[in-house]
Amino acid sequence: MDKTWWKNSVGYQIYPRSFYDSNNDGVGDLKGIISKLDYIKDLGINLIWIGPFYKSPMDDNGYDVSDFYDVDPLFGSLQDAKDLIKEAHKRGIKIILDLVLNHTSDEHPWFIESRSSLSNPKRDYYIWQDGKKDSHGHLHAPTNWGSFFEGSAWNHDPITNQYYMKIFSDKMPDLNWNSPALREEMFKMASWWLDQGIDGFRVDAIAHLARELSFSDSTMPLNAHHVAPDWGKFSNRPELFDYLKEFNEKVLSKYDCMTVGEVGGGASVEAGVKYAGYDAHIFNMVFNFDTCWKNNIFGNDNLKDEDIRINVLDMKRTFNLWIQGMKGKGWMPHYWLNHDHPRVMSQYGDPLHFHRESGTLLGTILLTLPGTPFIYNGEEIGMTNVDYTSIDDFTDVWVKNYAKQAKTHLSEEQILSHLRRTSRNNARTPMQWNDQAYGGFSTHVPHQKNVGNYALINVEKQLTEKDSILNTYRTLIRIRKDSKYSETLIYGDFKLIHPKDENVFAYHRKTANQHLMIICNFSKEPHDFTVPTQYRHVIFNNYQNAHIRKVLHLKPYEAMIVEV
Ligand code: NOJ
Repeated sequence: MDKTWWKNSVGYQIYPRSFYDSNNDGVGDLKGIISKLDYIKDLGINLIWIGPFYKSPMDDNGYDVSDFYDVDPLFGSLQDAKDLIKEAHKRGIKIILDLVLNHTSDEHPWFIESRSSLSNPKRDYYIWQDGKKDSHGHLHAPTNWGSFFEGSAWNHDPITNQYYMKIFSDKMPDLNWNSPALREEMFKMASWWLDQGIDGFRVDAIAHLARELSFSDSTMPLNAHHVAPDWGKFSNRPELFDYLKEFNEKVLSKYDCMTVGEVGGGASVEAGVKYAGYDAHIFNMVFNFDTCWKNNIFGNDNLKDEDIRINVLDMKRTFNLWIQGMKGKGWMPHYWLNHDHPRVMSQYGDPLHFHRESGTLLGTILLTLPGTPFIYNGEEIGMTNVDYTSIDDFTDVWVKNYAKQAKTHLSEEQILSHLRRTSRNNARTPMQWNDQAYGGFSTHVPHQKNVGNYALINVEKQLTEKDSILNTYRTLIRIRKDSKYSETLIYGDFKLIHPKDENVFAYHRKTANQHLMIICNFSKEPHDFTVPTQYRHVIFNNYQNAHIRKVLHLKPYEAMIVEV
């Protein structure tokens, strides 16, 4: 197998607005990232994915791009981006950017032109349709399709009395990939960034570049917004594979770069192979969301704390499904969370009683799976969900749309507890560097409130504690990269041990020359576990009391790597 650099990498995602604020205006910036590159290198990272820092009105924190060729002043300048690439490369770290192909901001000059008249040459850069008139002469959206950010997938534009499609916010019109001229513009832009020295892309919302062009209503039941959440109308449709193949042929294949496409939920393993199979010639890997919501909190906004259940069995089944399904056919990335999810510590760990133990268990699994792992900034210190007490503390555009509608049938407290569990703001709080004001992120009030626990959970403190989550992530990365184990941990076979065990997530990792077992008690209760094969050596244990036994008395969230 080809053992190229991105297969041997350990990735780290940075959400730029919340990482480190070098100029104390309350927003993280590129110079801030440069000043933390040594921290990232010491962690053992050699690949960074940075969220969008293009010029943007920030309706969706930069995913609404108004100029692809410039850096938003909030984050710095184009020169800062070039310095960041250079400084990262000096330290042996590759940089990939977030590439937004599905939409632009409504403030992008293309859209301003496009909306100006029916005959504008850029009209077909976006997706325009006539509305439908009812029997009273009232105009309605062309279809009943819903958007991911609540409400309709269409927005009426008074200038030409047509609707433009937007599957995210009103300020994010969808691009029309059916237009050859638009495709060429996007290819030119991506090549330009590669020419600046970046090493590849995380490609945003890639599953949606094609839609059902007959624009027929969905037959799905309508939701509270009177729209059908029928993502199939604009997800994983056959035409998009032609667009992406062309992108690969005209751009990606010309560079030694790597790509991770975001396919989100709803893409099957077979679709994964179509996007990122070795023979697909599209992307190198795809992020799916299938392991992210293995408790019952997603979309369940009226849930009591005592009714939340982590389904370890289902989590193991899902990891296994993807790993076996992609085996020999394509490469996989793994991650616990990104900027669109709650903090994994709060979701699958136990921040109150077993912070260190559950944080190190999560790291053990992530860093011993086959493929390329991605750590999300703050995960390495076990950052938690927010403790906000007002809906107004949540700044995300989706939250605002959701809260408006939820107020009609839920109490403020119910909405708040749902947002504290599920909202994207959880992952977007300022990075907790130390116990100083604002967690050392800035000396200015941050763009989004800190979590109140930064005096307890922060980088500075964990650097001094030998067994902290941070130091354990460093150890685990070191083990993953150690030539004694790397072949097995990165490329070896994966096989679940006791797949029906509801608490212990355990698996074999094997090559012809080595056999490792990873054994993790994914539970706050102790559990006994019978090892299937005797082992002779404990490589790692997050309790440091490991012994060689046939029946292990695993402690809460105990995690081990052993060699047979
Ligand atoms: C996926 C990104 O991860 C998310 O943050 C964003 O809101 C949507 N795509 C739209 O760009």
